[in-house]
Amino acid sequence: MKTADKRNVTAIDCVSQDRQWQRLMEIAQFGAIAGDGVNRACLTTLDRRARRKLIGWAMEAGATVSVDEAANLWLRREGTDTQAAPVLTGSHMDSQPRGGRFDGIYGVMAGLEAFTAMAQAGISTTRPIELVAWTNEEGARFAPGCMGSMAWAGVKPISAFFDVRDHTGNSFGDALAEHLLAEAELPRRPLGNKPHAYVEAHIEQGPRLEAQGIEIGVVTGIQGSRWFKVTITGESAHAGTTPIAMRRDAVQDTMHAIAALNTLMHDPDDILRFTVGRLTIEPNSGNSVAGSVIFSIDLRHPDQAVLIERGDGIAGVVAGAMKTCESTVEEIFHALPKAFDPLVIGAVEAAARRQGFSNMRLPSGASHDAQFVQPVAPTGMIFVPSHKGISHNPAEYTSPEQLAAGTRVLTEVLLELAK
Ligand code: HGY
Ligand code: MN
Ligand code: MN
Repeated sequence: MKTADKRNVTAIDCVSQDRQWQRLMEIAQFGAIAGDGVNRACLTTLDRRARRKLIGWAMEAGATVSVDEAANLWLRREGTDTQAAPVLTGSHMDSQPRGGRFDGIYGVMAGLEAFTAMAQAGISTTRPIELVAWTNEEGARFAPGCMGSMAWAGVKPISAFFDVRDHTGNSFGDALAEHLLAEAELPRRPLGNKPHAYVEAHIEQGPRLEAQGIEIGVVTGIQGSRWFKVTITGESAHAGTTPIAMRRDAVQDTMHAIAALNTLMHDPDDILRFTVGRLTIEPNSGNSVAGSVIFSIDLRHPDQAVLIERGDGIAGVVAGAMKTCESTVEEIFHALPKAFDPLVIGAVEAAARRQGFSNMRLPSGASHDAQFVQPVAPTGMIFVPSHKGISHNPAEYTSPEQLAAGTRVLTEVLLELAK
């Protein structure tokens, strides 16, 4: 096996487990909630304070900063060939409302640690290396997720999301405008560029690596996911006076719809993922019959045909389940299964092997911005274990050693790709 370039070894040795852990814990304070959790929604003051912290550290490591019209944050480490297509790494800084300290932010901080280690080792690379923090990967405040990476990849203009509202009624467009104003003094860059390759470090958010005692996940691709917004419209009425026979109860019909969808989505092999995670009831009063219910559907599957067939069946099944109400179904997110590129998969696997980390190939059950970068440039991901596979939960945990292993592999992959 090819031995690692001596300069790479110096940079890898400069990766500091403690510095990375300390910085992750410092960022986790922006939106800290009970139980070591984090609630840091995109385009909030918490998000901006975390970004400022990151910018400061990145500039200390010699990076320059810029922001695009989707508020994606870019930190660039210049290459000797300033015109060469950059190697790209990154992830997201926004969290779920009851998220953990590592989902997304680890990939951003791993890129920062790689920059810091390269600066300490005095290493220059031919290609520039860019670290990106994508806007709104989670889709928790404004649905759907991956708005920043979709806009960057040209899947949809960022304006397509302007009218999406959060639970307080704020529009994404207004929140984005406010955010860009607050970062007005940061240099702007145009949306979209063609990187040489993209590699994202992320926690696995599943149980496989830990269960098999494996240190590094060599991610082969991402399963497909489709999000839907279902609206059930009945008629609000008095809970005490309105006979059942006269009601158009949106909660009752929602239950019929979800029961029918469970039948549509039944998978004896437990591969398909069907989730109703959000229900908004109006008027949401204990003594009023519900006039309307809006509920979310998150459907995932690694097989494109199954994803299409089951997803396309939703509207008919919901309509067929209605007893007294009307229903509408709107698809708000459509990401087909993606396979990653052998160039990046190979670089991750070779680096893990060279550094003596146990490793295995596996697909990602969670979605990531990488799924939108994949059509634009050779793309891959590095996973580190999640304790008991827990994520989107304050109990999410990965150890300092495991995080450092992922960052050492990332550092070598970036140096190899940026040669
Ligand atoms: O939904 C997801 O899979 C990602 O963690 N946001
Ligand atoms: Mn994530
Ligand atoms: Mn997530």
